[in-house]
Amino acid sequence: MTLSLIQAAYLVAALLFIASLAGLSMHETAREGNVLGMVGMAVALVGTLWLAGQRADWLTWLAIAVAVSVGGGIGVRRARQVQMTGMPELIAMLHSFVGLAAVLVGYNSFLSGLSDAVHGVEVFLGVFIGAVTLTGSVVAFLKLSARISSRPLMLPARHWLNLLALLVSAGLLVWFVGGRSIVPLMLMTVVALLFGWHLVASIGGGDMPVVVSMLNSYSGWAAAAAGFMLGNDLLIITGALVGSSGAYLSYIMCRAMNRSFVSVIAGGFGSDGAVRGGELDYGEHRETSAEEVASLVTSAASVVITPGYGMAVAQAQYPVAELTAKLRERGVAVRFGIHPVAGRLPGHMNVLLAEARVPYDIVLEMDEINDDLADTDVVLVIGANDTVNPAATEDPSSPIAGMPVLKVWEAGHVVVFKRSMNTGYAGVQNPLFFRENSQMLFGDARERVEDILRAL
Ligand code: TAP
Repeated sequence: MTLSLIQAAYLVAALLFIASLAGLSMHETAREGNVLGMVGMAVALVGTLWLAGQRADWLTWLAIAVAVSVGGGIGVRRARQVQMTGMPELIAMLHSFVGLAAVLVGYNSFLSGLSDAVHGVEVFLGVFIGAVTLTGSVVAFLKLSARISSRPLMLPARHWLNLLALLVSAGLLVWFVGGRSIVPLMLMTVVALLFGWHLVASIGGGDMPVVVSMLNSYSGWAAAAAGFMLGNDLLIITGALVGSSGAYLSYIMCRAMNRSFVSVIAGGFGSDGAVRGGELDYGEHRETSAEEVASLVTSAASVVITPGYGMAVAQAQYPVAELTAKLRERGVAVRFGIHPVAGRLPGHMNVLLAEARVPYDIVLEMDEINDDLADTDVVLVIGANDTVNPAATEDPSSPIAGMPVLKVWEAGHVVVFKRSMNTGYAGVQNPLFFRENSQMLFGDARERVEDILRAL
């Protein structure tokens, strides 16, 4: 009876997780999606605690309650403290915990006794995926938080090293299943830890968005593997949902960046990590003032705003939303063009604009707006750089060559909001800044937009 009640609770939780994913796929329903996910997790937690209570297994109950309170407390504190710009590294760090958990569950399962060969394979694969996720996520955390260089590690014969790690692990699996000894499990753990480290270390800065979603996927598969080892259906379903949605997101990001999925996963594709373009002579750039931009945008019929990472750093979304509302009141058609990898997180700009209550219907994806840019009077590039770099389409030797970008340079006028002539995330100079129809508005994006609002 108790067991069927628990199974019913897990089924409800699994359905809520699926509904949550459906909600998260659209701006309008994202909040509801989050709420459904939280309710699903609460149902799952209550069910698990109740099961432990029913079995009169008070020690387990106490251990779960203490772990949930301590972990939850730390989680709430970190979530309150973290800036939006620090989210990617926090997420990478959280993925590493999922990997660590899968490794620990695997060793625990082994030490508690393997029932059969299938169980042995589950444990081996669970520990392998967990270990790869653990070190891969730690490297991603170090790169995203700029604690180590985002340049790709280019070891000689790196693809052969990856292949060797996979072959050695396959051999160790055969040994492990045949002999049920801890030695091959431990050897494989070391190989998998090194493999995960190398895999992410050899991926270049420009491809980091794919890495974040790929690790998201790995963490899902690690959780699913833990579910198999523990015989927990809900963990299997939840892990598979996270794993497959992360894999699909990686695929979408690769398509958006015109990268081959396999090349990114194999590492080191596209960039040797050198900063390029800074030395190229693109001519002189021109500066403008907030007052000039105010009169430019008020006399325009159409304005497109393309935000990037700098808008997140400056927290400029609120004055940008106010500027949008003021211009729309004056009859100027204002729309937003969002590049799929603008900022540092999938959907980063959409979240910021939603936070500042910019209407969804004027926020368009790159593919939806790119063809309209040639007929646009003014484009305001707010803290974006790589995502509006014409070198991606015009210079085959550029490290970001082939990446689709917002063709802002086709508009009548372009105003670029940034603090200096520094390069963006990929370390590539941007010839847009030196074009005839481009002007630079230097300074913090939030302050400059507020200056424009005052000048209106
Ligand atoms: P970036 O190329 O990173 O450029 C952002 C620009 O913002 C910088 O050039 C910087 O110039 C400017 N900036 C910084 N702080 C500012 C402030 N307070 N006020 C005004 N400007 C400021 O931005 P992007 O166009 O959004 O491109 C995103 C890049 O990140 C891509 O290369 C992408 O591959 C990578 N990436 C994306 C993700 C995801 S999932 N979206 C994850 C990891 C990496 P100054 O220093 O001169 O001000």
